[in-house]
Amino acid sequence: MKLLSKSGDLVELLAAPDEKPLQRGDYLQAVDGRRRLLLQVIDVDYAELPGGLEDALRELGSEELSTRLIDPYGVGSLVAGLRDARIVVAKLRGVVDGDGLRSDLLWLPSKLGSRIEHASPELIAELSSIGGRRPIVIGECMGGILTVNAEAFDGRLTIITGKKETGKSHLAKLLVTSLAEYGAKIVVLDINGEYVGLSTRLDGGRSGVADKHLVLNPGENFKASIEDAGLGTILDILQHVLNTPAASLREFIRLWGTVKRVKGRVSLRGLIEAAGRAQMHESVREALMSRLLSLNSTQFFSEEEATNLEETLNNMEDGGIIVVNLSKTIPSGRRIIVEYLLSKLSSLLREGRVDPIFLVAEEAHLYLRETYWDDLVTRMRHTGLFPIFVTNQPDMIPETVYRQADNIFLFNFTNESDLEYISKASRVDSETAKRIAKALPPRYCLMIGRMVNDLPIVVKVREMPLKTMGETRLFFKLRERV
Ligand SMILES: Nc1ncnc2c1ncn2[C@@H]1O[C@H](COP(=O)(O)OP(=O)(O)OP(=O)(O)O)[C@@H](O)[C@H]1O
Ligand SMILES: [Mg+2]
Repeated sequence: MKLLSKSGDLVELLAAPDEKPLQRGDYLQAVDGRRRLLLQVIDVDYAELPGGLEDALRELGSEELSTRLIDPYGVGSLVAGLRDARIVVAKLRGVVDGDGLRSDLLWLPSKLGSRIEHASPELIAELSSIGGRRPIVIGECMGGILTVNAEAFDGRLTIITGKKETGKSHLAKLLVTSLAEYGAKIVVLDINGEYVGLSTRLDGGRSGVADKHLVLNPGENFKASIEDAGLGTILDILQHVLNTPAASLREFIRLWGTVKRVKGRVSLRGLIEAAGRAQMHESVREALMSRLLSLNSTQFFSEEEATNLEETLNNMEDGGIIVVNLSKTIPSGRRIIVEYLLSKLSSLLREGRVDPIFLVAEEAHLYLRETYWDDLVTRMRHTGLFPIFVTNQPDMIPETVYRQADNIFLFNFTNESDLEYISKASRVDSETAKRIAKALPPRYCLMIGRMVNDLPIVVKVREMPLKTMGETRLFFKLRERV
């Protein structure tokens, strides 16, 4: 391979057709003296040689004669080789000078004198490392093992995205279990009920995180007390989830005060009784009553069996995975539960009563209200709630969230508009995201951002011996078992 040209941070290399095949995302280095230019392959094209079309046409015309072509000087293969040359399109990632990667150094290797080599996995591992003592093995990269440090997710915003069935949830489970093994506490909002099997290994035995794994089923072993949720949270639920009119909200605040004064403690039953008796306009009463009854029908609120989240979290001294199983809950129920959970967690964190928490949210747009996104990525993150969003519908996550993302795991996307949307994220140049992500096979992803020291890396995510339960239940498969 030889350096051919450079325009901006796009570098073209000329390669012979028989050279070792490259994959998008591979790293090459142009070595000249003690410095090296680090290049990431994003595409391979045919070299457009001058007169190429004319040559091809001439060849087409003389195809039948070609077996009898006279080649007295034996240059045929050389010419064919030239015509078949490839252009490797690569992105310039910086100059390796001494130990580190420098993007500020204006240096170019000699076109003729430099040597192009494949970068070693060790070099990439070294350059992409951000330091830390808790390695998580993500998978394979360029023949080596790629690890990132758990510290890369601490205090950060992470997004895992890609089209359906590319391996996003699998990766999320890998991160969740690895973080828990290092003692982190993680709350998972599990919309498909697929994180409930993490305590079981594929062979049926108990997994390494079995002792740290707690599944909360809303309405069953996960309930909340109205009083504990507080007036603010309940008002948010009434307003944002149940679309209660303003007049009824004002009446509700009065009602809350009355029940508190008379009974000493607010309960859902108390509120419903009071709403039935209190003097108010019939339409307001009706509006309030119907909302209170739908809160009641979720069976999530209970004064007697309320779950003590603070205690549950603090009991998990060596780390834990709390899976909130939302798979059996109807959409409005999910919103109510999530609204309660987030407001509870953020008040516990704000008051310093629990340690920081990682929050894994799958398809969060299905249960997170609009106004919560900004809150989650700014205010709540500062108090110690570190989100990991997983989605196959990237445009459902507001653009501002992408801009603030520290880490992105990008799986395959074929849809241009999805890629366009993601490439607006500040930490990746859109060319890399588009060309690489479009060609990624399932289970491969492009890692972007702080976790890889801003050196985009394509990795094949490793397998996990856990029951990951990501498979879609299939009709015909079920039939075959019978
Ligand atoms: N790296 C991997 N090694 C082994 N199996 C994997 C890997 N990645 C994914 N799988 C398997 O492939 C299937 C699909 O993966 P997964 O559920 O993670 O996809 P997804 O991107 O979350 O899909 P969806 O968008 O439908 O939620 C699952 O059965 C999962 O166990
Ligand atoms: Mg999934």
